Amino acid sequence: MIRPGTPVEALDTPSLIIDLDRVEANLRSGAEIAAASGVALRPHTKTHKSPYFAQRQLAHGAAGITVAKVTEAEVMADAGLTDIFIANTLFGQAKAERAAALAARVRLAVGVDHIEQARALSGAMAGAARPLDVMIEVDTGSRRGGISPADAPALAQEVHALPGLSVRGIYTYEGYTYEAADREELAAVQRAAQDVMVRLGDGLRELLGIDPVVSVGSTPGLLSGAGYRKGITEIRPGTYIFLDAAQAALAGGVEACAAHVLATVVSRPGPDRAVLDTGSKSLTSDTRSSGICRTAGYGLLPDFGLTIARVSEEHGVIEGEGVERLRIGEKVRVLPNHICPVVNLFDEVIGVRGGVVELVLPVAARGRLK
Ligand SMILES: Cc1ncc(COP(=O)(O)O)c(C=O)c1O
Repeated sequence: MIRPGTPVEALDTPSLIIDLDRVEANLRSGAEIAAASGVALRPHTKTHKSPYFAQRQLAHGAAGITVAKVTEAEVMADAGLTDIFIANTLFGQAKAERAAALAARVRLAVGVDHIEQARALSGAMAGAARPLDVMIEVDTGSRRGGISPADAPALAQEVHALPGLSVRGIYTYEGYTYEAADREELAAVQRAAQDVMVRLGDGLRELLGIDPVVSVGSTPGLLSGAGYRKGITEIRPGTYIFLDAAQAALAGGVEACAAHVLATVVSRPGPDRAVLDTGSKSLTSDTRSSGICRTAGYGLLPDFGLTIARVSEEHGVIEGEGVERLRIGEKVRVLPNHICPVVNLFDEVIGVRGGVVELVLPVAARGRLK
């Protein structure tokens, strides 16, 4: 058992360490950016998968939370979170029934980008006391899920007419902001996505007689400095709470990152090679090869300016110049390239303040993938 008061250096490795003061600073700055643009903040909790951090986000003024899966929503609802948006499309009767059960106990919205998803949800809502809110997912360029802007109004109209459902608004995920070449391009693509969404929102107001929520996501968008235009009502950044090697440059440097994997140099097989006890099973093998969030290697050692050149499941290999500074047995900080899937690999995160353990938190929604 890890006791509060334990110094970070005394922890066994690999461990996922969260600097709680840095979390508070990141939450404060996210909330300030949202407030400056007059948009509601509905953070995506898939980054931390923990009701504790969701509550901290509410304490910093978040209007509600976002999740990716109905099972994540259940974990959050069980822990007392009452306003949840599943920013993902659910398909089929089993999922629809779970969503309907959840809608009876929390304020819930669910993503839809196809009428078949909506029909299943409508069926599951038969006899419900109040309708389930639906957010129409719009593709503004990610080419993942999402209906085209041209087809969105007709889908919204059809969904709104189904019994048991009510369209609350529209959302998009501008994941392609990660690929912008520089801050100017980032601001431009973000602005273009917002223009599309605001135009659609205005159309829905006319078409359905609602005051639609117009929701956008992405941490690069939040950190771009470009803000949000009038007509955007809600934002859903997720990664901003912890940040990672990919976002560090945008966030003003590696010290803005609140999460790192503590690892041990377990071998120095040669003068130009060091081996860490952290590999793809604790860091993932995610990389970003281009754009403003480009990364090098498989994780960054900020205290040494080194990167992990190769990972296998339990090994991270560092090679070349600078390796001579790594002593066997030494514990090092590693910033993952992409923090969200890393959190999902750990049973618990260790919250520290001033280099000392304050609390150990289970990653409550870890593995909740359904
Ligand atoms: C639908 C949706 N909304 C919001 C986010 C949060 O974006 P970010 O991780 O850039 O903060 C994501 C991230 O994957 C997402 O898929």
